[in-house]
Formats: sequence, C-alpha cells, structure tokens
Amino acid sequence: MKPLTRRHFIERATRLTGSGYSAMMALNLIPASPARTLSLQGNGNGKRVLILGAGMAGLAAAYELGKLDYECTVLEARNRPGGRIWTVRRGTRETELEGDEQTCRFDEGQYFNAGAMRIPHHHESVIRYCRELGVPLESFNNTNEGAYYYSDGGRGPLANKRIRQRELHSDMRGYTAELLAKAFDQSALDLPLSAEDKEKVIEYLVAEGSLDAGRRYKGTARRGYRVAPSAYDQPGTPAEAPALLHLIEAGYLSPHFSNVPEYTYEQQTTMLMVPGGTDRLTEGFVKKIGKKITYGAEVKEIKKTEGGATVTYLDKKSGATKALTADFCICTIPLPVLSGIANNFSSDVQRAVDLVPYNNTCKVGLQFKRRFWEEDDGIYGGISRTNLDITQVVYPCSGYLSAKGVLIGCYNYGSTAERLGNLSPAEREKLVLAQGSKIHPQYGQEFESSFSLAWQKIPYSQGGWAVYSPEARQRYYPAFLQPDGPVYFAGEHTSYLTAWIAGAFESAVRTVESIHERVQRGS
Ligand code: PHE
Repeated sequence: MKPLTRRHFIERATRLTGSGYSAMMALNLIPASPARTLSLQGNGNGKRVLILGAGMAGLAAAYELGKLDYECTVLEARNRPGGRIWTVRRGTRETELEGDEQTCRFDEGQYFNAGAMRIPHHHESVIRYCRELGVPLESFNNTNEGAYYYSDGGRGPLANKRIRQRELHSDMRGYTAELLAKAFDQSALDLPLSAEDKEKVIEYLVAEGSLDAGRRYKGTARRGYRVAPSAYDQPGTPAEAPALLHLIEAGYLSPHFSNVPEYTYEQQTTMLMVPGGTDRLTEGFVKKIGKKITYGAEVKEIKKTEGGATVTYLDKKSGATKALTADFCICTIPLPVLSGIANNFSSDVQRAVDLVPYNNTCKVGLQFKRRFWEEDDGIYGGISRTNLDITQVVYPCSGYLSAKGVLIGCYNYGSTAERLGNLSPAEREKLVLAQGSKIHPQYGQEFESSFSLAWQKIPYSQGGWAVYSPEARQRYYPAFLQPDGPVYFAGEHTSYLTAWIAGAFESAVRTVESIHERVQRGS
C-alpha cells in the first residue's frame, strides 16, 4: 500500500466528508480559531456546579452551563459582580488592605475604568460575548501621535521638555533609516543582495525615514510644523528636527518611550472598549444569570469530598458560616487570595497556587474642571508616557468637548506600582499631581478630585494579573488545565492570555467543555 501522505489524507477526508477542513485542522494546517463557539449537545440534567467568583470567568461559566441545564450557584465575596472589571463612578467606595476608605466624589456621569479598559480587536471571545449579550463596542484610542512623551532628568537642550509622540517617532525613523542607508551605501552590511536589490532597500529607507536627496534625515513635516499652513501666505514651515545626540541625552531612547501601542500585538489599532464603562459587559451577563449570584459570600474552605465538593463561606451580611455542596466546583479566585483559603487540593495545585507571581498595578483617576488636554493641547484620547512613577496618562476617548473630564493620571506596573501603592490615597494624589504637572502644567489650576487604587491591595483581588516566567509556565501552569477531582480552575491566570478578559472567557469555555464532556461520559 502506498504510504499515506498529508495531501492524500486531506483528499480522502474531503471525499468522505465533503470538506477537508477538519482534516486540515487535525494536521494543524489551519490554526484553530482562538475563540471557538460553544455548541455543546446534550444536557447537564441539573447537575450542581458551584462557581467561586463573579468575575468574567465565573459569569461566563454560569452563563454557558445554564444553557446546558446545569444548576449553578456563583459565590461572590464582594457586593458587586465583575472582579477586575470595575468602573469607578460617583459613590464608589473601597477600603484597601491596611488602607483608608475612599469614596469617589466625581460628578455624576464621570468615571474611569479602574480595571479592564481596552480590548484587542483579535480577542474574538470577548467580541462574541458582546455580540451575544447586545453590549456595544467602540474604538479605544490607544495610539495618539499628538500625545506626549516626557523624559525627566535627562541632559542637553531637550532635557525635561515634553515632546509630541509624532516627533520622536518621525525622528527615530529618520535617523535609523539614514544610518542604515549609509551602511548599505558603504556595503558595510554583508548581505547577499545584488546592486539592484540594494537600490530597492535604499529606496524603501528613503521613503520610510523621509530622507532627503542626499539620504540624510533633516526633519520632515510628519513631525509637525513650527508655523502651520494657513489660508493666507503660509505654506507651512516644518519644525526642525533635534540632533540624534540630543534625543539620546534627554533620555528618549529609553524603553519607557518604545512604541508599545504600535508594536505590541495586543495593543495595535483598532483597540475596542465598551462605551459608558467596561462594567456594561458585566451587566450584560448579570441580566442573564444575575439570580444565580450570592453576594457577600467570602469563601473560607474548598474541599473535595466523596461525591463532589463542599465549599464553606462566610455570609458577610448575617455573619453566619454556611456550606454548600455540589457535583463540581469551578474556582476562579485569583491566586494570591486562593492561597489563603483552606483546601485539600493536590500538592501540584497547591504549589501552583502559592508560587505563580502576580503583577502590582495602580491606577489613579483625576477629575478636572475642564478638558485642558483637548482645549489647550489638542489631545483626544490616547496615552502620554513618562519615565516618572506615574508612567502613563490615559486620556478619555469619549465625551470629547464636554465640560469636565476624568483622565487616568497614573497607570503603572511592577516595583513602581508597589511604591505608589504603599502610599496613602492622599499621598498618591499629591505625587500624581506633582509628576503630572510636568507634562500638563494646568493640573494645579484645574484639578477637582481623585480616586486611586493599587490592585495588589484590593481585597479579593490582591494583584493585577498573573505573570508567568517561562519556568513557572512549565512547572505550575499545567496543574490548572485539568480538574483536581471535582474542582476545576478558570480565570485569566489559567490561560496564555493573562491580563486580558479573553483569558477569563476562554478558560471558562475550556472548563465548561471539560465538565460537560465528563458528565456526558457519565464518569
Ligand atoms: N490588559 C491590561 C491592559 O490593557 C494589562 C496589560 C498591560 C497587559 C500591558 C499587557 C500589556 O492594560
């Protein structure tokens, strides 16, 4: 018999099934869609599932299991659903671990997303749920060439001066293209290219960097004008480009100013957002399965038993300790919190729960009397970046030209966020205003009120998102991909899409499929 080649296999499968698609999928020739639609057959026959956490993973799991006639209860420690989808508005209250209570004093209608704020356009699972639940999406302006870079503490003529992002982008494209063109000209690069090929590369570099006839970068209108074109006699005088040395001295070649929104897959245009606040997505689920959620239920113990799982929780309203049993349990509790909950998990799971680290992250929302960043600076959405602790200033990309506005005056990560998080809300406000004033001197005049949070100190989250080193991925991650007896794990931390809503959704889908398959098998 002739050996079966891949091609033959696909041809035969096509003849048998009328489509070669699944055969090609089986051979890995078509990448599986990142967001499979759940079209599970059969019936859960009222099997009981206890879901721990009403964040995106827990809500999506309850929603999908409900479609299959499982009986679900979602235990949520907070008095609100959504987890790390959290939109802060007037009246929002929070007390951080060892912290002071804050109450949001923004005007009615003003808000910021303290957690998830932006959705990559290729996160199909999120888009699918938005479509299914009737939650609208619009553009999140993650890239804005008119926003600022501000390098603090450099040297030279550009030291401590904000610059527009378009300036640095154009200048660095220009200078790198010039350097490369020079290297090609001098045949300094040992590449197997013909003279004609080299000419094509140089032609490309001239266009890419906006180089002059001598293949030098001398500035370009792309970086903006010193005198703008007018309807009178002014054709437009482009602003002079600074010398490469001056950009280096001022600190603008530091990774703080690398072009993350254009280069990172997750942040490329078009990014999306939920108009009115990301919590509208949470509401979409709550409309469907809200009755299944028990709020104020703080999980104290998770136990695998003979026939299923028993979860003990503190009913915060009555102060009573209660217990629920179920055939299965889906645990979406963030690991830093889960680590403090009594359990009889396998040692592999316990190790993973204790040892996968989480990122620190802070956001500080600032309400201003007027949208000076729009009125004075022409900034409509997008993000300014700096090497100061505040790291990013995120401008609202809705409500343009309206009277007041809330921007995110600080969004940082890691050790910088740890430092800021260790300050009191009043100290954070002071620091964020002082640092932000270096980019926007209008801060002092226009500021009204702030609300700040450090996710590592927010009860029931205790961190921003899971951060796996390659080693942790290899050693600990597999423990979350299979059930520990009746207990399943879901949440962004149980996916390769950590720090994104899509990780929560896709892990919920994985878990539901896995439970349903087991129930149908009858084991
Ligand atoms: N998804 C989060 C955000 O949009 C966290 C994150 C930040 C993830 C930066 C990757 C890179 O801000």
